[in-house]
Amino acid sequence: MATAPRRLLAGGQPEPAPWQEHQNEEAVGRAIRNSGIARDELFITTKLRVQDPGEGNTWRAFENLLRRLGLDTIDLYLMHQPYGDYYSQWRAMQDLHAEGHIRAIGVSNFHSDRLIDLITHNDITPAVNQIETHPFYQRQAEHDYMPEHGVQHESWGPFAEGRNNLFSDPTLASIANHHGKSVAQVVLRWLIQRVVVVIPKSVRPDRMAENLDVFACSS
Ligand SMILES: NC(=O)c1ccc[n+]([C@@H]2O[C@H](COP(=O)([O-])OP(=O)(O)OC[C@H]3O[C@@H](n4cnc5c(N)ncnc54)[C@H](OP(=O)(O)O)[C@@H]3O)[C@@H](O)[C@H]2O)c1
Repeated sequence: MATAPRRLLAGGQPEPAPWQEHQNEEAVGRAIRNSGIARDELFITTKLRVQDPGEGNTWRAFENLLRRLGLDTIDLYLMHQPYGDYYSQWRAMQDLHAEGHIRAIGVSNFHSDRLIDLITHNDITPAVNQIETHPFYQRQAEHDYMPEHGVQHESWGPFAEGRNNLFSDPTLASIANHHGKSVAQVVLRWLIQRVVVVIPKSVRPDRMAENLDVFACSS
């Protein structure tokens, strides 16, 4: 369990993303401490589980998270889904932000109607909305809509989680060949050029390096 976070930091990936349902926070915390990288050089994102409704439970879930990670602050804390009493969760997240425990708060898997309602009826606009986005599900309407409200589009599953034979797709492969890059790299570069934040996942150091090496491509 500890291997991937350690490799991730060794590979220079900027955004460790511990997930509570993955139960990997202790391993991520150990990898951070053992990396020798200064805390302010890391950007740490995690999310609030939907199973922890209510303001009190949201505070407790966050305190437990910090304890498991061995950290004082989180850079970006996301609400996983707009289910149940998520307004109370958001109020607690706003308070955690106001008290300096979290640098930015955001949401995930919010459709536009839920997003605008949350923005309208609360003090803080989500910094990001992390939604499934990849070549087979481009989310153009949400992509156009979110910046109008000050919300950054973040992609989860940029490689469609490996589904639909993305890595051998003939169209993507021909674009990749044309640029002398891999399919993974052209997908990431396409998303980045659309100003979509990407969080590709790999357990392999060679692929982590490949996925980071996307800024030198000509457009
Ligand atoms: N907010 C949400 O509801 C939500 C839902 C799902 C996922 N996420 C998050 O989104 C992030 C990424 O999503 P994901 O892991 O589901 O899907 P993904 O990044 O789209 O795809 C990961 C798959 O691609 C492979 N891969 C990675 N780099 C590659 C490369 N350069 N060449 C070939 N194969 C490559 C990985 O295999 P190897 O590991 O073997 O390299 C893995 O099978 C994660 O942080 C995840 O936790 C969020």
